[in-house]
Amino acid sequence: MRIEDAVVIENSRIASDTFRMVLKTGIADEAECGQFVQVQVPGYYLRRPISICMADQGTLTLVYKTVGDGTAAMSRMKAGETVNLFGPLGTGFPVEDRDVLLIGGGVGTPPLLFTAKKYLEKGHQVTAVLGYNDRASVMLEEEFRNLGCEVYTATMDGSYGTKGTVMNAIEENGIKEQFVLSCGPLPMLKAVSAAYTEGCVSLESRMACGMGACMGCVVRDQEGESMRVCKDGPVFPIGKAVL
Ligand SMILES: Cc1cc2nc3c(=O)[nH]c(=O)nc-3n(C[C@H](O)[C@H](O)[C@H](O)COP(=O)(O)OP(=O)(O)OC[C@H]3O[C@@H](n4cnc5c(N)ncnc54)[C@H](O)[C@@H]3O)c2cc1C
Ligand code: FES
Repeated sequence: MRIEDAVVIENSRIASDTFRMVLKTGIADEAECGQFVQVQVPGYYLRRPISICMADQGTLTLVYKTVGDGTAAMSRMKAGETVNLFGPLGTGFPVEDRDVLLIGGGVGTPPLLFTAKKYLEKGHQVTAVLGYNDRASVMLEEEFRNLGCEVYTATMDGSYGTKGTVMNAIEENGIKEQFVLSCGPLPMLKAVSAAYTEGCVSLESRMACGMGACMGCVVRDQEGESMRVCKDGPVFPIGKAVL
């Protein structure tokens, strides 16, 4: 875990309101799939947590949606500028010796790309089911396919791929794999947790310190005990956290 000024190599729009920022930073060499970095957007005191989409030989890729002032300011940054990063943080996805079904929704899909790479490097089959609101929001599909994943896409409005949710795409395509790693909006994670028992989900929570000290990001487990999304998670076994 380190705090470092990272140099922006690329920062470009890849889908509706969604940008890819590629950075030169040593944090990339320590990153594990499912972890995140805290981004100090210039002019903003609180850091923004963003998942690691890919890490490779000193290069870190983040994919983020502009939802408020911080991410909007981030989207205006240019190549050559520096941004302070804190990370890698959190407990990421397990890399087990088995095939895997990755289920992602919206800006929950980025950390699954790095996860796919890790499973493929071990020689396992990776099926990725990606869900978006509409065709304009679809992203990273080619990147998953180019890595070697079998990819299925769903859009809520039916403008691309299966009409409906990721669960509709799984049913429509007869996908049987039962070991699941998932990241995306809460309703999607609830549906995944209702349908599968083996695997993990990655949660979001408002964060302050990002390193387990302030208890600002706590969720509860089934026994009512506190779990910190930033340190104990963001990845938890299916069924462990109350969603
Ligand atoms: C572990 C983790 C990984 C994430 N990975 C990604 C990712 O890969 N891509 C992506 O687009 N988004 C991701 N998010 C959500 C992202 O952090 C928020 O969208 C972002 O912080 C919003 O900042 P803002 O200034 O634009 O919005 P504002 O609403 O103006 O933010 C105000 C404050 O609330 C916090 N905040 C707002 N929304 C969230 C949120 N959903 N989660 C946590 N804090 C929030 C901000 O950090 C900031 O401190 C992740 C969140 C977490 C917790
Ligand atoms: S953000 Fe401080 S403990 Fe998680």
